[in-house]
Amino acid sequence: MRSIQKTGTKGTGGKLDRSRTTGARYMLLRPAGYPLKSMFQEHPAVSDPRLFERYAREQWYGEVVKPGCYLFDRRLYPDFAFKVVRVYPRVSVVGSETNIVVEQKVEKTKAVNDVRFDQVVGQNMAKRKVKVIERFLQDPDKFGKWAPRNVLFYGASGTGKTLIARALSTEAKVPMLPIKATSLIGEFVGEGSRQIHSLYERAEQEAPCIIFIDELDAIALDRRYQELRGDVSEVVNALLTEMDGLHMRSGVCTIAATNKIEFLDSSIRSRFEEEIEFKLPNQEERLALLELNVKTMPVPVETVDLKKVAAITEGFSGRDLVEKVLKVARHQAIMDECSITQAMLEDSVKRVKKDVKEPPGEMFT
Ligand SMILES: Nc1ncnc2c1ncn2[C@@H]1O[C@H](COP(=O)(O)OP(=O)(O)OP(=O)(O)O)[C@@H](O)[C@H]1O
Ligand SMILES: [Mg+2]
Repeated sequence: MRSIQKTGTKGTGGKLDRSRTTGARYMLLRPAGYPLKSMFQEHPAVSDPRLFERYAREQWYGEVVKPGCYLFDRRLYPDFAFKVVRVYPRVSVVGSETNIVVEQKVEKTKAVNDVRFDQVVGQNMAKRKVKVIERFLQDPDKFGKWAPRNVLFYGASGTGKTLIARALSTEAKVPMLPIKATSLIGEFVGEGSRQIHSLYERAEQEAPCIIFIDELDAIALDRRYQELRGDVSEVVNALLTEMDGLHMRSGVCTIAATNKIEFLDSSIRSRFEEEIEFKLPNQEERLALLELNVKTMPVPVETVDLKKVAAITEGFSGRDLVEKVLKVARHQAIMDECSITQAMLEDSVKRVKKDVKEPPGEMFT
């Protein structure tokens, strides 16, 4: 891990062994102005969290901290105080790997307002669970220690995992804070874990709310694979800490989604109180999905036999039906300046089947 070289004068707390740190061979500096701008001497505004973290680690390196204690700025804002709100472990020492996040006043995120439960076809297990979560979000205190906290959605791509989380946000009228786990593996060491801590910090301020972690497998891979991916285990540890800490927060529920549950690390998997499988739709559900979406088509639809389409689309996901079959037929109708016909729908179905049967590498086998 990188260590911090002390540049300060005596008394700023330089505790690293300088003799063991290699001296810089070359250093290029660019004037960066005042990244921590004082707003009427009241509050330093942090415009670059990474820079602030470095600044903070340097000056408080070696300080023992616990919730409720104060840290005083000794450089830019002499004696300006920061109160420690949370720290893991509860009593610990600031070190070169401490993730330091400054609480930001956040504008309340609005609830997603476009999908409702009745637009989700099938997935009855998931619907039952989100109804419980909805009740919890409406009255978190009532649930106490029985609150739903961490729920895992898994199953094939395009089966409605994201859709149902959005519907929950709409129906419960609470914000959903989404994050893609793939975006947490960044360019900078520590960036992903800091993002996790900030996300939960923000959730606490916005509660009641939902945190939706998509593509969880990108970070929560089995430990055997984590080592291949740089700072992934650091991100996982940040997530575990936050998931464990949830009992202290009221009104925050984490929903995570993955297509590859079998690759998840058991330490992460065991944190979820429930794993809910999303299955591909059966024939009846496919018909319901087609009917629901045909209704909202802005292109005229001839009298088509959706039952037949449902019958010939076994193995298709909801996304395949909406994004591939219906959308492609719709585009065809726009091009031909006519209404959507049965032949167009069946053509799109054939095309999807062909794509599935003939993956690009097949010609070499
Ligand atoms: N059960 C469903 N009911 C209604 N529409 C569905 C359903 N499943 C999928 N769809 C349609 O497919 C689209 C994609 O679904 P969604 O994004 O929820 O899939 P997902 O399970 O999150 O997939 P991924 O694992 O790839 O993220 C939805 O916006 C919706 O139009
Ligand atoms: Mg999704």
